[in-house]
Amino acid sequence: MTALSFIHRHEPASGPDRAPLLLLHGTGGDEGDLLPLGRALAPGAALLSPRGPVLENGMPRFFRRLAEGVFDEADLRRRAADLAGFVGQAREAYGLPAPVAVGFSNGANIAAALLLLHPGVLAGAVLLRAMVPLADPPAADLAGTPVLILSGALDPIVPAANAARLAGMLREAGAAVTHEVLPGGHGLMQADLVRAGAWLAR
Ligand code: MLT
Repeated sequence: MTALSFIHRHEPASGPDRAPLLLLHGTGGDEGDLLPLGRALAPGAALLSPRGPVLENGMPRFFRRLAEGVFDEADLRRRAADLAGFVGQAREAYGLPAPVAVGFSNGANIAAALLLLHPGVLAGAVLLRAMVPLADPPAADLAGTPVLILSGALDPIVPAANAARLAGMLREAGAAVTHEVLPGGHGLMQADLVRAGAWLAR
């Protein structure tokens, strides 16, 4: 592991032509968590997996929250800038093109914030159980950036209307958004793997 600004894991690509994945774990996860998911979703792709630098009762996250679903937006903005900086460092250190984020829950929410606050850092994003990260994001130009949002119809943390609002915000900014609502809750299911794997391979 190279000493970059985030504790992280990097797995080099084993094949030439897949975009690297930036894996962003959920609350209480770490940099090892999503590596198996990344390998399954995009075999052969380089994987870059940072650990969320904020601790909530000992559980790593990517930004602070005031309550479940209520974010500390000033902290989120600062952490999104830090993560954008890390991606730049890692691209240089490992010789990577712009990555596609695969984020789950808190990781999906910081990926959504990265899209809105730092367009151009991500080549695309798979947002698993994401919600609107910022009440009033700046106007971003995400023209053509592909985004897949997979929501759960029974998700107790992300109301359906909130996920739909996120899809609308990203579309408004020009992203090419596919939003699917799966018949499940906040946890990941087989259908997430199937949909996300097919979307990444397209
Ligand atoms: C968040 O804090 O990002 C969301 O509430 C999802 C979670 O991490 O539980």
